[in-house]
Amino acid sequence: MPRIFINGHPVDAERDQSVMEAALANGFYIPYFCWHPELSVAGNCRICCVQVEGRSWVEIACNMPVTENLRVLTDSDAVKEYRKSIMQLMTLNHPVDCGICDKAGECKLQDYHYRYNGAPSLSRDVKVHATKFHPLSERIVLDNERCILCSRCVRFTREISKSNALGIVQRGDSSLVRAAEDRPLDADPYSDNIIDLCPVGALLSRPNLYGARVWYLQPTRSVCPGCERGCNVEIWHRKAEWKLNALDPSRNARIERVTPIDNPRVNGPWICNKGRDLAKIFERPRAESPMQKGKPLELVAAITAARRLIDEAKRPLALVSSWASNEELAAFARVLGRRFTVRVKADHTPQPGERLHDELLIRPNKNPNSRAAMALFAQGDDGSSPLPADTDLVLVWGEGFDFARLPRGARTIFLNAYLQPENGHADVFLPISIQTERSGHYTNFKGEVSAFEACFAKKGSVADAETLFGELAVPLEVDA
Ligand code: SF4
Ligand code: SF4
Ligand code: FES
Repeated sequence: MPRIFINGHPVDAERDQSVMEAALANGFYIPYFCWHPELSVAGNCRICCVQVEGRSWVEIACNMPVTENLRVLTDSDAVKEYRKSIMQLMTLNHPVDCGICDKAGECKLQDYHYRYNGAPSLSRDVKVHATKFHPLSERIVLDNERCILCSRCVRFTREISKSNALGIVQRGDSSLVRAAEDRPLDADPYSDNIIDLCPVGALLSRPNLYGARVWYLQPTRSVCPGCERGCNVEIWHRKAEWKLNALDPSRNARIERVTPIDNPRVNGPWICNKGRDLAKIFERPRAESPMQKGKPLELVAAITAARRLIDEAKRPLALVSSWASNEELAAFARVLGRRFTVRVKADHTPQPGERLHDELLIRPNKNPNSRAAMALFAQGDDGSSPLPADTDLVLVWGEGFDFARLPRGARTIFLNAYLQPENGHADVFLPISIQTERSGHYTNFKGEVSAFEACFAKKGSVADAETLFGELAVPLEVDA
């Protein structure tokens, strides 16, 4: 374990660390654009310069290995002067259009300009212009004038997603990031990670373009339910104090963007594009009205009707949801588990064209909590074979059940969150809340438990499954 000295303070570094890594791990900040802990070292931005004591020149910290008794200065006069000139160079041809840039508020170039430069441009020459709004893919737009050519995006597609979809063409101030002609970025299911990786506002999300300034939004911790990896994410939505009054009110309670939470045990710093598109899952038309044989009724009356069906059933079977939280599954097992034969259902199956699985994150099981559900109930449902013919009540919890499989004459209680034709066919239909309206945990395929929290309020006519099961378990004579 080499001991080095940063600004005179002793630091015990790991043997294979760079000065950058040792400094960041021990509370000393060194600025960086091109360096990233998960990517190879490119060493091209030069903002991370430090000075080795006794030398008159500066060197980059991201490519400097630690050695015993190495003494570096991160804030000497030479370092400050060099950093300032690097910032001048970075902004030489940069359009400085922060006023309309989606990255404003979380841009390293902005932050470092104020921290390490702050001076107006020295150049009197006209800026070199480059392509603006270049459609890099269906999902991503590139502004070449904002690009500082750090190559993070290119290295990501080479080293992490392995699509090799990006490269840098031409030389000098004509250099441009471009998609490789034969490897479209559209085919890379991890492409949106380059939006996070880009230290400036050169790579932006086309669906979210000009959607909301980042300071109008707040993140809520969540988990992507798109597969059994259970990537940890933040769901960004509008802050109450920045609520829109004049426009469509639904914009105050919608998902504005999704970004990864770095969890080395689950997903590292990445997520796939399906995780970015959680709005497509959660913002489908919702079922909000309880029904009995297709006729709307109050939630209390619907719960009473469902209790009656459970009381009367002789051989009830429940198909539980693999999108339910650990807490909801435990509640079902506790209060209704003995009353029903229970099978675990796959709520979602792979969609046409969807990547089934790969080495990075994507898993073949497209449900977030199958492992926890199987640990409680042991028996899975294959999604196709007939249910036992003597079943007289089927409780279906969540999506993905083919109602043609119902045994003849069996009654049904259906718990679902979304508007679907099957809702009206159930004897009793109970609308339930979705993940963004409640808190809980999922257990991923490796047994890692991740928490999610509520970001939006649920409607009064919609039940929380965890509470609902307690109400369904009360025998009817208790009310009498
Ligand atoms: S587009 Fe962004 S990530 Fe890619 S090279 Fe330019 S600045 Fe770096
Ligand atoms: S890998 Fe799975 S859990 Fe992770 S973001 Fe993609 S779909 Fe969601
Ligand atoms: S962060 Fe070291 S050269 Fe870019």
